[in-house]
Amino acid sequence: MKNVLIVLTAIALFGLIACEGPAGPAGKDGAAGVAGKDAGFVYFDGFKADLKCSSCHNADTDTVNNVAARSIQWANSLHGSGTASEENRVSCVECHSTEGFIMKAKNITIASDIVNVTPPNCFACHSPHAKGDFSLRTTASVSLTSNITGVNASTFNVGNGNLCVACHRPRPITTSTTTMLPDPTKTAMTDTLKVGSSRWYGHYGVQGQILTGAGAFQFQGTTAYGTTSQHSTMAPISTNGCITCHMADFTPANAYGNKIGGHTMAISYIPEGSTTAVEMLNGCKTCHSSITKLDYNSKVTTFKANLDTLKKILIAKNWIDTLDAIKATSSAPLKIVPASRGGALFNYMMLVHDGSHGVHNPTYANDVVRASIAELRK
Ligand code: HEC
Ligand code: HEC
Ligand code: HEC
Ligand code: HEC
Ligand code: HEC
Ligand code: HEC
Repeated sequence: MKNVLIVLTAIALFGLIACEGPAGPAGKDGAAGVAGKDAGFVYFDGFKADLKCSSCHNADTDTVNNVAARSIQWANSLHGSGTASEENRVSCVECHSTEGFIMKAKNITIASDIVNVTPPNCFACHSPHAKGDFSLRTTASVSLTSNITGVNASTFNVGNGNLCVACHRPRPITTSTTTMLPDPTKTAMTDTLKVGSSRWYGHYGVQGQILTGAGAFQFQGTTAYGTTSQHSTMAPISTNGCITCHMADFTPANAYGNKIGGHTMAISYIPEGSTTAVEMLNGCKTCHSSITKLDYNSKVTTFKANLDTLKKILIAKNWIDTLDAIKATSSAPLKIVPASRGGALFNYMMLVHDGSHGVHNPTYANDVVRASIAELRK
């Protein structure tokens, strides 16, 4: 039945293409300026002429692209099964949906919420129907906004990883009379910082910043943070970025191949019935030939212990709760004196949201967490 449906859909799609007259150059039929609603048939990308459907849509002969297997991996990833596609509002869809991401990439204005939204899937990162291959939709460098007063935006330009950072980038904190940005210069006891929102952070996509050693709050008069810059500048990361560590194929072949590595983008996975995580170190091994665990040189253990210390201090101050929620609302802003101390809270949220337990940039992450503890212990 499912096959019949696919064939029918395919026929329907052919019909639509046929109605459009002589085929123009690929992608020409994407109508510009259409609102993000389910407004009838709108192809953002279109179909390439002479596309051979069965080269991808046939698990039997598709031994090159392995679309079926990659679809399963994707479904197991948070791109496929996270809460992402619940965020279908106009200001969220450019990163939380396929439709929004394509529109943003094509400079089509997103004018409204997108109904019937698709989570970031094959068509977000690739354009298989319009291009007939799996090249990446975008690899343009990305500007990473700074949420710290006096600090400029940084640039992320790490090859194919730029695709990931097109979404995994920070968002600006909305300021108001009750919400200020962290400011390193406000060190006097008369300087009060007001945090009027529990979302006082640059959203969750801070991985690009951490990887390149940017974005954390630097306290005045302290030593500049160090960085393990090789995790963004050394080949093969310098040309493939995030992909090197996150998308390596897991070996031995297919042991957990659809649960970890590849298009799951997961580096660790806890098999059903087990309490021990399986770790995918094939990416790491391109440089650390003898690595046996993610906790290389115990840097993860050190980082986790320090982050836990910082968390306990923040809880004791009543700035956050045990689930890492900032205790602030616009009607009852959190007040921090001197204002510059708020940098420790900002850094904590950033390191939690990074999600790598320091691995993205071991030196930087460990320096930032230590400096934040030192500041609060002053
Ligand atoms: C270069 C590879 C490739 C080619 C060639 C290709 N497709 Fe696809 N197509 C995909 C991928 C990837 C998906 C999404 C993954 C999946 O559903 O298996 C997809 C999904 C679809 C879907 C399902 C859309 C949905 O809503 O889930 C239809 C229908 C479809 N393709 C039709 C066609 C037709 C018709 C052709 C030939 C004109 C074609 N495809 C050629 C890669 C390809
Ligand atoms: C979040 C972004 C993202 C999504 C979603 C995604 N891909 Fe990919 N895909 C990539 C990246 C990045 C690469 C390059 C990986 C590499 O270089 O090892 C890639 C590589 C591929 C390749 C290999 C291309 C080659 O030339 O070797 C295929 C095939 C592929 N993807 C199919 C799919 C299919 C099918 C889906 C949907 C089920 C999908 N991708 C969803 C990012 C994505
Ligand atoms: C279209 C936007 C988009 C692109 C492009 C994208 N991501 Fe994501 N990614 C997301 C969103 C949104 C989530 C959160 C999903 C959720 O939790 O519902 C996410 C989640 C993830 C997660 C799981 C996070 C967790 O907390 O477990 C990983 C790992 C990840 N992405 C890696 C990558 C990598 C690597 C690339 C590039 C190959 C990439 N992403 C490209 C939007 C994107
Ligand atoms: C600039 C791109 C971008 C925009 C715009 C954006 N997000 Fe996200 N968001 C992400 C990425 C990437 C992640 C996943 C990062 C990770 O897992 O580390 C994420 C994660 C989240 C999460 C956490 C999901 C989880 O499982 O932990 C929530 C909730 C969320 N976003 C809500 C929203 C809402 C609501 C909006 C609009 C008001 C929005 N986002 C706008 C990129 C974006
Ligand atoms: C040097 C290898 C490496 C590079 C490069 C790298 N990551 Fe990671 N990343 C990791 C490790 C290790 C973890 C922790 C995974 C775990 O504990 O399961 C992680 C965790 C994450 C997480 C948290 C979700 C999870 O799976 O637990 C996200 C999201 C993420 N990385 C996105 C990115 C993005 C986006 C880039 C590129 C800007 C990137 N990573 C580059 C190694 C890397
Ligand atoms: C592009 C090459 C490359 C890749 C890929 C890579 N690393 Fe590294 N990493 C380095 C280099 C070079 C250093 C600095 C020298 C050293 O400590 O080995 C380093 C340092 C580290 C450190 C800090 C060690 C210390 O004592 O300060 C940790 C932890 C680490 N890497 C873990 C990982 C993990 C885990 C992965 C895979 C998820 C990974 N790396 C992938 C090149 C790489």
